[in-house]
Amino acid sequence: MHTTCTLLAPIDLEVGDPSDATPELLTAELSNWIHHPRASHYSHPHGEPEFIGATANYYRRRQNLYLDLNSQVCVTHGVRPGLFFGLLSLHRPGAPVGYLSPAYFAFESIARKVGMVPAPITFDTWFGPESGFKSALSKLRGGALLLNSPHNPTGLVLSSVELEDLARMAHKFDIRVVSDAVYSELYQCDRGMPDTYLRYDPNAIEVTSVSKIFRACGWRIGAVVGDAKWIAEFKNLYQEMNGVPYATQQTAASALNWMTDVARYRCEIANRRSVLVEGLRQHGFVIEASAQNVAGLFIWACLPVGMFATSANAVAYFEKAAGVKMSAGSTFGPGGEGHVRIALNVGTPLLREAVERIAAALERV
Ligand SMILES: Cc1ncc(COP(=O)(O)O)c(C=O)c1O
Repeated sequence: MHTTCTLLAPIDLEVGDPSDATPELLTAELSNWIHHPRASHYSHPHGEPEFIGATANYYRRRQNLYLDLNSQVCVTHGVRPGLFFGLLSLHRPGAPVGYLSPAYFAFESIARKVGMVPAPITFDTWFGPESGFKSALSKLRGGALLLNSPHNPTGLVLSSVELEDLARMAHKFDIRVVSDAVYSELYQCDRGMPDTYLRYDPNAIEVTSVSKIFRACGWRIGAVVGDAKWIAEFKNLYQEMNGVPYATQQTAASALNWMTDVARYRCEIANRRSVLVEGLRQHGFVIEASAQNVAGLFIWACLPVGMFATSANAVAYFEKAAGVKMSAGSTFGPGGEGHVRIALNVGTPLLREAVERIAAALERV
């Protein structure tokens, strides 16, 4: 393998943090709110009424789900802290935390840091014979499950039937489910919005944020919604975070009420996905696109056969020889080796260039 050093400007498709700017209407809204007299004071640690109301309205409009404003919604600093405090507030130390693997890298570390035991379930087990799925879930008895649909890294969306099945098992084995819905708005334009898991499981909570919907990963705001008892304990612990900035909450409320630029961006991401899937397939990547790669912010691609010993080798090579950064499948846990994850962070012209550069680099392997 010749690892020629590239002088090309890097194309960063590694972390899921799109290069796209937050819509101007929203940045203008944030700068308006920052001048509000309340902006320099402590905010309500569980959320300002406007943000709580906007979140509940969002669920009513988008999912036809009614949430009680007082007991079923709490503001968070995004999804990741929501997952952490969600598990922490269960008070189930030492219990297993299941999740479909490969998985968002933070699932394992969050499970460990709250004193629980990560229990990845591979795709082969989850989608294999029903007995395997049942047996894997039975091992989570008295623990928790981190659900992520649409899924990072594979772009899988669980169907309503699958969610309903999962809820039945969760009930049977006393598994408390935290649903990570951070990609729920980035679905294929011709498929409907993915169903919320809350529809099937009254004992679950769901965490959302503005990070991906509004290209506002740096704003650090989201919400946890669902089971009132669980949310009450969540609020008790989250009190120590001392609130999300007032101006951010007001701006996020406006964003949820207006859904600024969401429909256009959803289609933009879908276009990017098509360009990358078609381009990479022509160069030996195998990309499953009936169940996986249908939503979210990434492409999950199987590397061309026989060219690289490991996904980490492939990623290092593409960065050096093509100037294209991506993530090695092995970093997403069991089931990830042999794949790469590519974030749809840039527009289609740059994605086409990335494909050309990858293709040229493959010629030199
Ligand atoms: C599955 C998943 N959950 C949560 C997050 C982080 O979301 P937030 O920015 O709201 O903390 C990410 C970010 O990549 C993610 O992929």
